[in-house]
Amino acid sequence: MSSLYMCWFKRKKRSSEDSYNSIDSPSNDRKWPLWKMILVWSLVALFALVLLVFLLIFVVFPITFWLCYTLQRFMTFIPINSPKNPNFNDPGSYGIQNVQNFYITVPDYYDTEKLTKIGAWLILPENYPTTISNAINITEILQNTSSDILFYLHGVAANRAKPISQYTLFRKYFLVIAIDHRGYGDSGEDVELSEDAIVSDNLHIFDWLRKINSKSNIYYWGHSLGTGISCHTVSSLKEKKDFVPHGLVLEAPFTSMADEIAHVMGKVFGWLAYFNATIVRPVGENGILFESSRNILNINCPIMIMNAKDDGVIPWTFGERLYHTAIEKRNLNKQGNITFHSFPADKAYGHNDVTTDPSVPHLIEDFIQMCNEFNQNNRLS
Ligand SMILES: *[C@@H]1O[C@H](CO)[C@@H](O)[C@H](O)[C@H]1NC(C)=O
Ligand SMILES: *[C@@H]1O[C@H](CO)[C@@H](O)[C@H](O)[C@H]1NC(C)=O
Ligand SMILES: *[C@@H]1O[C@H](CO)[C@@H](O)[C@H](O)[C@H]1NC(C)=O
Ligand SMILES: *[C@@H]1O[C@H](CO)[C@@H](O)[C@H](O)[C@H]1NC(C)=O
Repeated sequence: MSSLYMCWFKRKKRSSEDSYNSIDSPSNDRKWPLWKMILVWSLVALFALVLLVFLLIFVVFPITFWLCYTLQRFMTFIPINSPKNPNFNDPGSYGIQNVQNFYITVPDYYDTEKLTKIGAWLILPENYPTTISNAINITEILQNTSSDILFYLHGVAANRAKPISQYTLFRKYFLVIAIDHRGYGDSGEDVELSEDAIVSDNLHIFDWLRKINSKSNIYYWGHSLGTGISCHTVSSLKEKKDFVPHGLVLEAPFTSMADEIAHVMGKVFGWLAYFNATIVRPVGENGILFESSRNILNINCPIMIMNAKDDGVIPWTFGERLYHTAIEKRNLNKQGNITFHSFPADKAYGHNDVTTDPSVPHLIEDFIQMCNEFNQNNRLS
């Protein structure tokens, strides 16, 4: 910095020699007019500021991220409410009817003595014969229903009051149970948020449903981070509960958290030699893996994948890669077929809106048929 100052000083002195020579005042130590001093010091300050910002972004942030699990967890789960200040008890205020707010109590993953309250919405099928009131008995509804049941698992920066238009579509085919993962919405206040704990909650929620209703077909539908949760949950259901759902839909999925972090953070930090060591690897080392590429191989039901080509959050090629991995490494006859649908960029569905495409009802109907055929052929044999 001082050499820059000197260089500037000398050059300036020479170029303005003539004008200064005429002023004969050797005792005057203010050789420069004030505006020049201000200019030089402003530039020095600006340079220092730029350097500081650079250090903060490219040195301090990666090191903080590496050392701070809380920050890693926050930036991968983004447990922020959208909509803000949600009014879960009044689904009608979001313009949707015949939806009941309720809570499922599960033993906590970290402390089985403790109970965690998971918030959920019961979204009754479109053809439900009556309009429900607050006094409904959810156990009875789930016991009596003849509908297929869909667990909807949302993505980051969301809660169960967000995907209203999706519910309106899904309820044409399913009775929907929309879960807020622990740490989101009003689920499990002050609980540890982690991949394993969320999956454990989902296994308990499955147990809860199965105790009430052991006959309905169960589907899982994940969006975004919810696809990572779904793949892990469905794989664990097979391992730990010997249960395979009827079908799984992955909307805007990714291959693994490491790939997604490398994609998102790589845009800014990818050029750093310590990018993997400080940003990509620590998250996996702390157990946030969401290795859907691996989990999908352990899923024995038909799968439908949907991506928009203009998705700016998760590139559609991740969905395509997941599809190719699953098609190549799974036994389609024994483990179920997979379909992959990508929607052109000019439809501008982005990360959240592929389900608004007019073809989607058809895709869901075809998928349900595929699941029914697969389950008839495989479950009974
Ligand atoms: C709901 O129905 C179930 C089954 O009929 C019953 O055991 C339970 O007590 C009911 N709950 C309430 C709150 O009425
Ligand atoms: C469930 O079915 C039982 C027996 O048919 C009936 O008494 C009860 O009212 C039904 N409950 C609901 C919520 O549909
Ligand atoms: C980071 O890791 C990935 C995958 O292991 C590798 O392809 C990439 O070259 C690594 N990047 C750097 C900067 O080391
Ligand atoms: C899987 O589904 C695709 C598309 O519907 C179909 O072309 C293919 O024959 C199916 N494969 C198997 C093994 O059933």
